[in-house]
Amino acid sequence: MTPRVFPRDFLWGVATSAYQIEGATGEGGRGESIWDRFASTPGAIADGSDGSVACDHYHRWREDLSLMRQLRVQAYRFSIAWTRVMPEGRGAVNATGLDFYDSLVDGLLEAGIRPFATLNHWDLPQRLQDQGGWSERGTAEAFVAYAEAVGMRLGDRVRDWATHNEPWCVATLGHEQGVHAPGRRDPVEALRASHHLLLSHGWAVPVLRRDSPGARVGIALNLVPGYPASPSEADREAARRFDGSFNRWYLDPIFRGSYPPDAVEDRRQAGNLPRGEMPWVEEPDLPAIAAPLDFLGVNYYSRAILRSDRVPEAANAPRALPEPSPDQVTDMGWEVYPQGLHDLLLRIHQEYQPAAVYVTECGAAFDSDQQPRLQLADARREAFLREHLLAAHRAITDGVPLAGFFVWTLIDNFEWAHGYSKRFGVVSLDRATLQRTPKASALWYARRISSNTVDDGAPPAFGRLA
Ligand code: FCB
Repeated sequence: MTPRVFPRDFLWGVATSAYQIEGATGEGGRGESIWDRFASTPGAIADGSDGSVACDHYHRWREDLSLMRQLRVQAYRFSIAWTRVMPEGRGAVNATGLDFYDSLVDGLLEAGIRPFATLNHWDLPQRLQDQGGWSERGTAEAFVAYAEAVGMRLGDRVRDWATHNEPWCVATLGHEQGVHAPGRRDPVEALRASHHLLLSHGWAVPVLRRDSPGARVGIALNLVPGYPASPSEADREAARRFDGSFNRWYLDPIFRGSYPPDAVEDRRQAGNLPRGEMPWVEEPDLPAIAAPLDFLGVNYYSRAILRSDRVPEAANAPRALPEPSPDQVTDMGWEVYPQGLHDLLLRIHQEYQPAAVYVTECGAAFDSDQQPRLQLADARREAFLREHLLAAHRAITDGVPLAGFFVWTLIDNFEWAHGYSKRFGVVSLDRATLQRTPKASALWYARRISSNTVDDGAPPAFGRLA
């Protein structure tokens, strides 16, 4: 087996988010978030659970910090709960909420772990939702005030900031498909939300730079490379449409200051633009959204295979890419496709030239239905991570300025609409006792970090994969 050596300053991290791990939703003056409200809606969460306890990280963060030390992680990507900082979404700042993150940041720095803070990992204050949430421009203004409050308090020590996590999920899953908070099903609202998320990002960038001088500012996008199922024109068209609405809808405004014209046209034809326009986009918005960034965060889990539904199956070309078989998917049903990470990173580098890139999330749910004790031998997660790290390494060799990799996630946690029924952690959580136990993949990851290498040469663990 050949060890692949990563660049000397390559950053090895783990990622989490506030609502998924903190619990203590009623403590420390925290306000209600849209995820508290959504999780209390009957049927919204697969196992009927919510984030009120989660990993109880709010009380056990010191223990989690020592776990990270044990795993030798060099960077920790976490999110700040807006509702802890500004319980009403705007106005009064809750000092107790900021104190929590202040201590966490100091603890990380003492442990030699670099804090990467994300301002919005989906848990919008419910009070802002009551006024229209992300579909209203006022929420973008409120976000900037929140960013300022956080930046002023932590900006002297946190040097790496992401404004948002995965705005596509907030806009589309939350406002069009209704499967995430706030549970809306309105395609026009979703488009408005996407714009206000982007706008708030662009507005917050200079604020963070001012309050955190010398810091690096970016955003984390979930990007999914789309491959046509066959070379037919219809399938290539399906892949173009997917890419336009999923990837370029965010990449183009951020890196080019414009929405992709073909994707706007798709929306127009779908009847999602009032009078054929986007009246919520104002003149100075796009230049603001294109504020130069220090890094792009890429969250990568899988690819999409696009088969046209516009021509009858019999009239289409035979599929070149079959649907993945059960041994090629994770417990989420997502195909394991490491080559997609390489393709995606290269494409982003060639088409958008971000100054630096981090894989801000990559990981897999496996053994979700097992008792915590039984999932400690998680060979498939180890193989998943190894193959994705090798794909990342190939991207570096091909010239991508990839500066680090964050495993999703540190500990099994509240996986949104799936509740606790999907386990992504490299550390197991016993929900009855809240005891944490590192899985084999965590110990493997620690060894990778110490050696700054990943071994190549093992046969691929997921069937036909490259
Ligand atoms: C991403 C989210 C993260 C986690 C993983 C599995 O979309 O950013 O919070 O749920 O998926």
